Amino acid sequence: MNHSGVRIAGVGHHVPHGVLTNADLERMLDTSDEWITTRTGMKERHIATVEEPTSEIALGAARQAIASAGIQASDLSCIIVATVTPDYPFPATACIVGAKLGIPGVPAFDIEIACSGFIYGLTVASSLVRTGVFKRVLLIGAEELSRIINYDDRSTAILFGDGAGAVVLEACEEDSFLSAELGADGSNPKNLYVEVGGTATAPISADDIATKRNKVVMNGREVFRFAVTKMIEATNIALARANVSRQDVTWLIPHQANRRIIDAAAKHLEMPSERVIVNIDRYGNTSAASIPIALSETVAAGKLKHGDVILFVGFGGGLSWGAVAWRWNGDVKAAFPKNGKAG
Ligand code: ACO
Repeated sequence: MNHSGVRIAGVGHHVPHGVLTNADLERMLDTSDEWITTRTGMKERHIATVEEPTSEIALGAARQAIASAGIQASDLSCIIVATVTPDYPFPATACIVGAKLGIPGVPAFDIEIACSGFIYGLTVASSLVRTGVFKRVLLIGAEELSRIINYDDRSTAILFGDGAGAVVLEACEEDSFLSAELGADGSNPKNLYVEVGGTATAPISADDIATKRNKVVMNGREVFRFAVTKMIEATNIALARANVSRQDVTWLIPHQANRRIIDAAAKHLEMPSERVIVNIDRYGNTSAASIPIALSETVAAGKLKHGDVILFVGFGGGLSWGAVAWRWNGDVKAAFPKNGKAG
């Protein structure tokens, strides 16, 4: 049998138990529930403890995705983790997840492209499966942005949360992958970045830590403008490449960065709100994890039907962006209760 297609055979997600609400943020910062809700749509986010590194929440999502696919960890041929908040600067978090799953020896690597991580990862992993390099790839988006957020900076402290989402991609005859459009522009990396800790600056100092130069800095207005423009552009290109019209898109699953960004893009794309998946109120922006968490919840809610067309679209640091058009193939069941309270 010739397997030149790929499908998502299993999904899962896991978020830490700790919750940071808008009321908590009101006590920490000069902000309000009203401002946060109207400007972002966020109500609460999950925050990991120091005992829960990224590999740990990734593992929770991975176990569910493996169970959802009805396979064993030993059936996997590759592990990819999309993250900007790895357990260590190196080795790759994917290697640690592989060891925790009890499958050392299986190839594993990370993808570091911020909030676009799942879109890039889905493109890379699908290509590996469609070309016959690997039969089954575990792709995880896992982030603990809380570790690199400056909680004195109200413009970023309110936005981010921790979490992980995972999919198992497997070879099949009927291809789910319809098209991808990826992009990146590093001309102005400082619109969204962490200044120190890499090789562009002197080794991190006590003064850097005291002045929080090891935390995220963002030009929110610039990123907002870029996000809406690129989400629309990438979506249109991916759909044209797939020869699919906007009307044929059953579900838009966007990166959950800001409710207003999602609404603006969806309006421009003429996507009715009932076809746009939004869970930003409960998780905030979980970077590379936001799309697979949203997908996993959509599966758990029983919304996806064989043949549905999904448009995944995201953007993030880099700056980077991407969209993948995908035809849902098969009858995937979530491996956790319908209320989506995973982990
Ligand atoms: N509470 C109250 N006031 C605030 C807060 C807050 N938490 N944050 C900012 N403000 C103030 C500002 O100081 C400013 O006050 P001023 O007018 O007196 O100067 C005012 O609110 C308006 O600030 P803006 O930055 O213009 O607010 P905006 O409506 O643009 O919302 C936000 C800010 C939410 C950050 C928005 O710009 C945004 O979502 N940008 C995109 C962010 C994003 O998507 N980032 C993730 C990228 S993904 C990745 O790779 C990690």
